[in-house]
Amino acid sequence: MTTILGIESSCDETGAAVVVDGHTILSNVVASQIDLHAQYGGVFPEVASRAHIEAISAVVRQALDDAGVTLGDIDAVAVTRGPGLAGSLLVGVNYAKGLALGRGLPLVGVNHLEGHVYSLWLVERDTPIVFPVVCLIVSGGHSEIVLITGHGEYTVLGSTIDDAAGEAYDKVARLLGLPYPGGPAIERTARDGSATAYHFPRALSGDGYNFSFSGLKTAVLRAVQPPHEGPRPAKGEGMTSSQRRDDINVPDVAASFQAAVVDVLVDKTVRAAQEHGATELWIAGGVSANQALRAAMTERSPVPVRVPPMKLCVDNAAMIAAAGYFRYLHGYRDDQAMDILPMWPLVSIKDAMTQAE
Ligand code: KG4
Ligand code: ZN
Repeated sequence: MTTILGIESSCDETGAAVVVDGHTILSNVVASQIDLHAQYGGVFPEVASRAHIEAISAVVRQALDDAGVTLGDIDAVAVTRGPGLAGSLLVGVNYAKGLALGRGLPLVGVNHLEGHVYSLWLVERDTPIVFPVVCLIVSGGHSEIVLITGHGEYTVLGSTIDDAAGEAYDKVARLLGLPYPGGPAIERTARDGSATAYHFPRALSGDGYNFSFSGLKTAVLRAVQPPHEGPRPAKGEGMTSSQRRDDINVPDVAASFQAAVVDVLVDKTVRAAQEHGATELWIAGGVSANQALRAAMTERSPVPVRVPPMKLCVDNAAMIAAAGYFRYLHGYRDDQAMDILPMWPLVSIKDAMTQAE
């Protein structure tokens, strides 16, 4: 039995979790900063970093207490090393280093995207996983289609060339005067709208596995701004209602925008699964909480679709502990020289080990 303490602080959630053998969650504590960032309409990096510093000790203590264990029961500390916000990553990594050094525990740096992939290992299932699997990772910072050919073996088939899917949700929500985070707000609003009221662009459709969402965001902006040259919202600010056309139907725009996002995500992921002979199709990351995406993927996928339970879609440390467990099994170890990697791409564990040598 191997018990891993996972720590996550790459963005705006401070998380700590205790997971046994990469699949059994003993505890999973998440301190969300959503309320702090809502006033800015997005994550404010300096504020995020400070909030992590304030929360991390209590969150780790709570995770150990909830699991009914002490640090003496922990076999290794796994922590998100990247990608993410530098100031936020530093808090988790330094805290993990301190714990590992103080207790003589192995330290395992985990890729945040790999963490999202391993959230699917925490899902109860009655049949074993048969590779290859195709996973769509969609969050506020990422939109990637990943081919998984074994534990820790990844090929990134495609990713976004501009905005991430969740980022597009957040930006469009701001244009529509909806609160942060935009994903759940748009999903709720879209339920009362028509997905065919507007025809928004499906960028790069039929063309490889890369995504582009910035043209879609601009198309929404054009649809909602007044026809005459009115004042534009400054960068980082939402439109005020006086800057929006008064004849727009917000639920219709939300539903039509969501249909465009879901269409491209589903098209490309289903094609990737078919072309690579995937046995299953997984969706992970904050946007995987979206019911419209889940339903469309399930309807159009030729193979079973698996999604994490809601609380494992958004950032959490249980998925980091699960990914850390498999890195630990592979013999992957970091030491006190481990540094944050804010732009760390998702690479296979064996390549990460070679790079580290
Ligand atoms: O994975 P996550 O918690 O953090 C990152 O790694 O970025 O994802 C957060 C993102 C936000 O952009 C949020 O708007 C989006 O996930 N999101 C959703 C939904 N719930 C969260 N997007 C669409 N529909 C949802 N229900
Ligand atoms: Zn994430």
